[in-house]
Amino acid sequence: MQNDIARVLLSEEQIQTRVREMGAQIARDYEGRDPVMVCILKGAVMFYTDLLRAMSIPVALDFMAVSSYGKTTKSSGEVEIRKDLAISIENRHVVIVEDIIDSGFTLTYLTRMLRARGALSIRIATLLDKPARRAPGITLKTDYFGFIVPDEFVVGYGLDYAERYRNLPYIGVLKPEVYENS
Ligand code: IMP
Ligand code: MG
Repeated sequence: MQNDIARVLLSEEQIQTRVREMGAQIARDYEGRDPVMVCILKGAVMFYTDLLRAMSIPVALDFMAVSSYGKTTKSSGEVEIRKDLAISIENRHVVIVEDIIDSGFTLTYLTRMLRARGALSIRIATLLDKPARRAPGITLKTDYFGFIVPDEFVVGYGLDYAERYRNLPYIGVLKPEVYENS
């Protein structure tokens, strides 16, 4: 796997330090509010488990899976729910936990959908944000973000290319020839 990485963007240590800070901050903000923490599978899974272990307040866990890029590196703008929540979020505070915001289509869609189900509040916690890639007309408030990243395709710590590299403990930039040749 390492051979396909052009360079390390965020080391394991940098990620762990920042995620612990984010967990502490969210725990402070949600003290006494018993939030539902929604993990967006599969990309956010590493971030989610580390983040939640850094939160010292009661929370509920739930999971959603939405359509991903598949084997390409560009968003289609369409969002398909592949796995829905198991618990009700009506009258609950919700924090959506995502790996990366790119065009912003996924989270714009999900935020609207969860609001329509009667959530008391919805905030977004994303590990990475690529603001340079936001689609025209999309304005998204990223309440908690770990790192701003440049407009490059990144993998590792949950993020994949064609289902690979998710288990790298760091985040790296994929060599362009890896996806150009596939
Ligand atoms: P958006 O709807 O365009 O904001 O897309 C968000 C989703 O695209 C994320 O949940 C990722 O699955 C995927 N994605 C966007 N950029 C990258 C990247 O650099 N590496 C891996 N996945 C990415
Ligand atoms: Mg994803």
